[in-house]
Amino acid sequence: MGRLDGKAAIVTGAAQGIGAVYARALAAEGASVCVSDILDTAAVVEEIGAIGGNAIANSADVGDPDACAAMVAETVAAFGSADILVTNAAVFATLERRSFLEIGAAEWDQVMAVNTRGVFNCIKAAVPAMKERGYGKIINISSSTIYSGVPLMLHYVASKGAVDAMTKALARELGDSGIRINTIAPGFTMSDRIEAQRDRLEFYVNLSLNARSIKREQLPDDLVGTLVYLASPDSDFVTGQAIVVDGGMVVH
Ligand SMILES: NC(=O)c1ccc[n+]([C@@H]2O[C@H](COP(=O)([O-])OP(=O)(O)OC[C@H]3O[C@@H](n4cnc5c(N)ncnc54)[C@H](O)[C@@H]3O)[C@@H](O)[C@H]2O)c1
Repeated sequence: MGRLDGKAAIVTGAAQGIGAVYARALAAEGASVCVSDILDTAAVVEEIGAIGGNAIANSADVGDPDACAAMVAETVAAFGSADILVTNAAVFATLERRSFLEIGAAEWDQVMAVNTRGVFNCIKAAVPAMKERGYGKIINISSSTIYSGVPLMLHYVASKGAVDAMTKALARELGDSGIRINTIAPGFTMSDRIEAQRDRLEFYVNLSLNARSIKREQLPDDLVGTLVYLASPDSDFVTGQAIVVDGGMVVH
């Protein structure tokens, strides 16, 4: 028996990287999963099927409110509900690190449109279905960079700071509806695309490693326990919180 048996989850940005790990982990706990990304999610859906789980593919661009509404509608049509939303999609691993003086308006707007407005769009789309059942779990993904003030990616850090702020304010708007909303703030994690750029990013890999209380590289699996906790009834009296999962680099 899984801790999420009978629940339906949506994970955005789940074609690869940490999102794919989240989708597989929720399925392993018994949740049916809508695996969503602008990239092809067929492989992740197939892997979940191979372990005996239920999954559907979805190609919503989180920047598009209509696509987010369709993502939720398809989830409810397939599984009968949309109980868990993980807003993982973001412009992250493809970002060039550069001085804020060199970040143009178009790049700033693109990061905000996906990382901040995309989270808003997904939550807005999912909440009516959650309200109908009087229960829901929203897990936003921010970043430990908002606490440590990481330089050279100001648009990204600002976009994730806004996610954290939305979590706090929305907890108060959603509490009476039985919807819990929390944030996971991961540290620098060796996801697929980060691993693929290891040579170029070696400086940051070592910087993070040496700044941690637990001195080893962070892997996507390190985030799974906190994700499942926040998705499960174990955390039903927890809302509006941010949990930093980074091996004790940030302590707050
Ligand atoms: N890896 C890290 O070090 C780290 C640290 C802190 C936070 N995070 C956060 O964790 C999450 C996953 O990280 P990752 O390393 O796997 O990142 P990643 O960049 O490899 O993956 C992001 C995913 O989001 C998808 N995506 C991008 N734009 C989209 C859009 N408009 N609509 C739908 N999907 C879209 C991409 O296709 C991709 O699959 C992100 O939110 C990231 O900001 C990562």
